[in-house]
This record gives sequence, C-alpha cells and structure tokens, in this order.
Amino acid sequence: MFLGIDIGTSEVKALLLNDAHEVVGVAGSPLEVSLPAPGHSEQAPSSWWAGTQAALATLRARHPEAFAEVSAIGLSGQMHGAVLLDKDLAVLRPAMLWNDVRSAAECTEMMDALPALPHLAGSLAMPGFTAPKLRWLATHEPDVFAKVYKVLLPKDYVRLMLTGECVTDLSDASGTMWLDVARRAWSPELLALTGLNESHMPRLIEGSAEGGLLSAGAAAVLGLRPGIVVAGGGGDNAASAIGMGSVEAGQGFLSLGTSGVLFVVTPSYQPNAASATHAFCHAIPGRWHQMSVMLSAASCLQWAAGALGLASAGALEALASSLSRTQQAQAPLFLPYLSGERTPHNDAHIRGSFHGLSGSTDPAALAYAVIEGVSFGLTDGLKALHEAGCTIQRLSLVGGGARSAFWAQQLASSLGIEIVTHAESTAGGALGAARLAWLATGGTEAQVCIPPATHALYRPDPAEQALLAPRYARFRALYHALKNIH
Ligand code: XUL
Repeated sequence: MFLGIDIGTSEVKALLLNDAHEVVGVAGSPLEVSLPAPGHSEQAPSSWWAGTQAALATLRARHPEAFAEVSAIGLSGQMHGAVLLDKDLAVLRPAMLWNDVRSAAECTEMMDALPALPHLAGSLAMPGFTAPKLRWLATHEPDVFAKVYKVLLPKDYVRLMLTGECVTDLSDASGTMWLDVARRAWSPELLALTGLNESHMPRLIEGSAEGGLLSAGAAAVLGLRPGIVVAGGGGDNAASAIGMGSVEAGQGFLSLGTSGVLFVVTPSYQPNAASATHAFCHAIPGRWHQMSVMLSAASCLQWAAGALGLASAGALEALASSLSRTQQAQAPLFLPYLSGERTPHNDAHIRGSFHGLSGSTDPAALAYAVIEGVSFGLTDGLKALHEAGCTIQRLSLVGGGARSAFWAQQLASSLGIEIVTHAESTAGGALGAARLAWLATGGTEAQVCIPPATHALYRPDPAEQALLAPRYARFRALYHALKNIH
C-alpha cells in the first residue's frame, strides 16, 4: 500500500493506492491563504504539517486496515514557495507562495545581471519563483535574510517533519530558479544572484528515488510504521503527470486547480523562455517537460461564487451552463488575472476585469464569462506551448475543475483538442505522489506509470467553436488595450 500526500494551496490531500492500481481511500484537510498586502500570498508551514496530520487521521479512521499496510510515502506539493529556516531548522517567517508577485522588480534585476538566466533556469525570471523572493527579502527584511540557513519548498518542509532531512526532488527544484535544469544540478551562478550558495539548498534527488526514512517520532504521531521509505516525490504538476501516466514525449495534461496548467513531456531539455513557458525536469530520470501556467484558474470560480453570493464553484458552473448559445454570445468578457499572469504575459501588475456589461447582464452571464475567461487563458497557454515547439492532440483533465462536464466540453472547443477525464482526475498530485512511492520501492515505470482508464472524452464542437472564436479574439485584444492602464 502506497500513501501519497499532496500539499496543495487550498487543501492537503492524502491518498491510499494499492499495487492493483486501486485508489483505496482519499481524505483532505482545508488550508487558508493569507493575502496580507496586494500581490502578497502567504501560508504558515505549520499549517501544512497540521493539515497532513488531520488528513492522515481521517484516512486512518476510514481505512484502518489499508492504512496499517502503508509501505512507502510519496510527496507532491504546490511549487515555488519559499520556506525559510534558521540554523535550528525553525521557520523564520510565513512562506511566500507561488502566486505571490511582490518580487517583480527583483526579476528584472536578475535578468539584467545574468542574461543567460532563461537558458539555465528554463524560464524567464518570474516573481512566483523562489529565487526572486529571496532577493526581495534581502532588501526588505534584511534581518530575516541574514538568518536564512536553508530554503525549502512546501512539500519538502513536510518531508523535514517526516524524516528530519532537508531534501528535494528535481521537478520541484526546477521551480526555484536556482537549478541548472539541463544538468539537473544546483547552479552556483543562479544562487550567487541571490547571495546564496549550495549550502543553503536541500540535497537533490530524482522524484522516483528514496529520499529518507520515516522517523520514529513522526511514525508515532501519524500511526504509521517507522523506517518506511519517503520517496523524492514531485512538484504538484510533475506528480500529476505521473498520476496520469504522462511519461513519454508528447503526453500531457491540463490542470484546473487554484492555478491552471498545461503540461507536456519532452524527451530533452527544450527551453523557450520567450513564450513565457517553463521548461523543467520531470519527476523521473532523463525526462523534462514544458508547461504554461496561469495563476488563477479554479480560484476565479471560487472568487466569483463568493462575490455573487453562491454557495460554491459548482453552483457557479450550474448557473453558467444554463445559458443558451445566444445568451453566451451576448455575455460579457472576463480577464482572469486576479493575481497577475505568468503565461503568456509575464505581467505581475495586470488584474482581472469584466468588459461589456449592460443593463441586462445577470449573474448567469457573469458566471459564464468567468468560466470562459479561464478557458481563454488556457487557450493562450496552448498557443504559447505551440510556439515553444510542442505538438498536442489530446490532454487529460486533472484537478477539482475536472468535475465539470460543461467546462471540459468548452475547453475541448476552445483549445481545439480532445480532452479526456478519468475517475482519478480529481486526485491531482496525490495519486502521482503515491506512484512515486511505488517507484522508489521497486515498481517499474512500465508497471506503475500507466494511464488511468478514460471516464469521458470531449471533442471540439464546431458550433461552440464558431461562438468562441470571435469572443477569444476580443479577449486577446482586451489585455493589450488594458495593460498600460494597470
Ligand atoms: C506551477 C505553479 C502552480 C503551483 C500551484 O509553476 O506555480 O501550478 O505549483 O499548485
């Protein structure tokens, strides 16, 4: 039995997987994000460990026999967050998260100081990444910066609690902007840009390798056996890819979580920073991937549901899907940039907006506009991946948004590719994390990394495409019309 733990942005999710590929149980524990200032986004690392304990307690209560059989643990997590530790490995301040955009000025400085940065790191410098955050810290909180002894990523803080060791895997390390992604090793040049060196970094391993053993103390707290393997694991996107069986070149997925991601496996390191995509290591040896990332995907639905007084994102989707084609054509447009955007704009300052409101715009039209705006943002992401040289025919849908048939159909039409869902689609990174635990304890890639069975297939619908095409053209023009106002 393999245990996958995903440290998401909105919840910690834990999943039990057996060696017949059956998901035996899933449990979650919600997380809050603190937004202390515009563009700032933080979480306390202690909340990830508390959430892990709560999710595992629920899983254990529901499935006591399977839980007692856990033989290895895998970790997945939100990428890029900066967990800052002092020499006693105590947390120095709340972690700045992947969607924290306070360090835009530092990104410009880093690009100016090292023109080779995009080639080394696989991406333009973007404020969500870990390194620019440390440069911001050196200027704005020098006392804290002076005490930094280690910098960990979110899932690796939970690993520290589990094993007592500072270790990370290569897929997650790629998102720091300190990794030489082609060499799969820390880059002294990139580290020097933030006044750090390799001693500040965790030990690097492959995601499918053993990354330490569960300590007696953590085992007692969690009700697991001491000494079981904790695998390297992966950043949540690479881990989701392992869960969907995306391990060969050209295979990939579309994730509708708090962020929106299109992910495609590549056989080698193929950076194309100009397209504002990321070229990173995969969670298995000898493979890389490219991805486009939008900062606010399902989070736009949550925001709009709250603003419209609806109970949930599901209620918003039900309202949006009630519109006729004529009503859809008359709905306003929505720019989904609630916390700026990475792909394709790399713009930390832009914010969301509605355009085309009229006296007859009702909540259903607003709900439709929000979902369509996220689909259009992802369509921009696909264009960027095409510019970066990727060919994509079909993508698996993963994340909470994969529950919506309406949205899946709209994505197939807007992206012009086939979208497939799987029973395991909503498991996200937790399934891949469990699979990485399996790989770290003797499973082979052929045995472990198989695509899950298809639940539903969505093909582009020509009538819907005819409706969406002119609206998408206006959506693209809107960003360029508005960016200077911001
Ligand atoms: C990827 C990214 C997000 C986070 C959040 O670059 O920033 O997908 O991993 O889950």
